Amino acid sequence: MAMLASRGTTITTTHADRTLNLTLQVWRQKNATSPGKMVTYEATGISVDMSFLEMLDVVNEELIARGEEPIAFDHDCREGICGMCGMMINGVAHGPERATTACELYMRHFHDGETITIEPWRARAFPVIKDLVVDRGAFDRIIQAGGYITAPTGGAQDANAILVPKADADVAFDYAACIGCGACVAMCPNASAMLFTAAKISHLGHLPQGQPERDDRVLRMVEQMDVEGFGACTNIGECAAVCPKEIPMDVISFMNRDLLGATRRKDHEAKTSNE
Ligand code: SF4
Ligand code: FES
Repeated sequence: MAMLASRGTTITTTHADRTLNLTLQVWRQKNATSPGKMVTYEATGISVDMSFLEMLDVVNEELIARGEEPIAFDHDCREGICGMCGMMINGVAHGPERATTACELYMRHFHDGETITIEPWRARAFPVIKDLVVDRGAFDRIIQAGGYITAPTGGAQDANAILVPKADADVAFDYAACIGCGACVAMCPNASAMLFTAAKISHLGHLPQGQPERDDRVLRMVEQMDVEGFGACTNIGECAAVCPKEIPMDVISFMNRDLLGATRRKDHEAKTSNE
């Protein structure tokens, strides 16, 4: 904060008055089949209080005013809950701030004169549709493969009839925080979707309502994950480091234990039914 004296009046300036002039190097790609390339843009007079997406809005307004194609990027809630936004900012999924989505990343974390590179998620299972927009339908198909739960949940008044130990409820809630953004895949050198898939499996796996289909769910979701072309986990940990919802790596161990148990039970069932 700076104090300025002007004609006998004290004017207080906050960081809200600060602006940045930036150079952006943005991945532009016309469509899924065209080759893409990095294109340089100048972003001037950017308020430090703008979000990263608002900064892109300003750049796009200028592009539109010049008759040029705006930069395509995904977004919806702009408050860190929908998982739509996502881009590599200076080589890091969602940018430099921990536990922060691109829509909640503020320009105050950048410096005047900085060059910022902006690219889409890079993974075979997330093909680029246009510019920074990728197709994350593979995640939807993994969730779809998990199917439904048959446990009757009743009406709202019945919610407390199914007792859930507090510790399990807390863990399930933590895993349910996954917003399906895909940053874990984008940052993993193997483009593995283990953190995402494990969060979804473990969410229901910790609740009584998730028990009847637990084995089938883990078997089908892991199979779909492989079908989609995601890589294997080699415990590097980049996924958890960039996850905006701080899903921890140990969720992958939970999924692997579930998978092993389910595989053994299915093998045993198959063996005994053939006897
Ligand atoms: S585990 Fe984290 S990084 Fe991966 S999709 Fe879920 S919220 Fe995004
Ligand atoms: S736009 Fe919804 S999480 Fe970023």
